[in-house]
Amino acid sequence: MLKHKDILGLYDLSAEEIDEILTVGESMKKLLRQNIKKLPHLQGKSVTTLFYENSTRTRCSFELAAKYMGAHVVNIAAESSSVKKGETLVDTGKTLDAMKNDVIIIRHPMGGAPRLLAQTVKAHVVNAGDGMNEHPSQALLDMLTMRENFPTLEGLNVAILGDIRHSRVAKSNLFGLKKMGANVRMYAPKTLIPTAIDRLGAKVCTSREEAVDGADVVMGLRIQLERQHGGLFPSLGEYAKFYGVNEEVMKYAKPGALVMHPGPVNRGVELTSGLIDGDTSRIEEQVLSGIAVRMAILFLLTKEEL
Ligand code: CP
Repeated sequence: MLKHKDILGLYDLSAEEIDEILTVGESMKKLLRQNIKKLPHLQGKSVTTLFYENSTRTRCSFELAAKYMGAHVVNIAAESSSVKKGETLVDTGKTLDAMKNDVIIIRHPMGGAPRLLAQTVKAHVVNAGDGMNEHPSQALLDMLTMRENFPTLEGLNVAILGDIRHSRVAKSNLFGLKKMGANVRMYAPKTLIPTAIDRLGAKVCTSREEAVDGADVVMGLRIQLERQHGGLFPSLGEYAKFYGVNEEVMKYAKPGALVMHPGPVNRGVELTSGLIDGDTSRIEEQVLSGIAVRMAILFLLTKEEL
């Protein structure tokens, strides 16, 4: 049983809670593999997605997860909502609460926005990515994908390379993987590594090769140009050449090491096309894990009310 009303970040969750979500997610994924998409777990529940930033995977997979379990689903894009007329986040939340929503899934450019919403509404709040802070369901789906390929997360060597400074995915993975006993190495240009990330448990490496050496999993991260103000690296071409993950760099990893990326991928920048489409890539598998883990989150949050 989850101890929290909301899923705001993996910093908040215990290893037991993470394990429970992953275990239920594994069961959900087995059903999805059998093409079973009609389950009763959320019958009579209302779920709203409230997105103030663009999304393909996260919004779509939360919507499908809720629909596969029988929920009523409403999607709100801030661009076409009363937010454009000046309504505050808190007032939007109160409005959604008054409509008897059971779960509100929010993506927002400001770190902490989901927490503010959660303090305001009775509905369960799920953080679908808040600024540079956390993206818990992404890290959970990443861990689910890893757990399917290895007997345990304990002792797993995970290398994360890319725009770590602006990445909520990197932070949620760091918090989650460390709680589950994995080792996390990080590498990026110095301009894209947040100061003191090592104090949160990451090993900050001085080269791609050091980060990838003996890794079981190599995760590339998207260059988040929308959160950058220029001058952090010379050009995308030079970034790819000196910091991207390619076949040469992967020779340092364990044989068969998994290649992962949260998407959307800038092909040929963070990862080569050969790696994205190769046998060891789990990028498409991550997408299916995304629906499964989001089904688990929605089920576990609302289960005590059934
Ligand atoms: N990984 C991820 O959050 O993708 P979207 O931005 O498409 O939701």
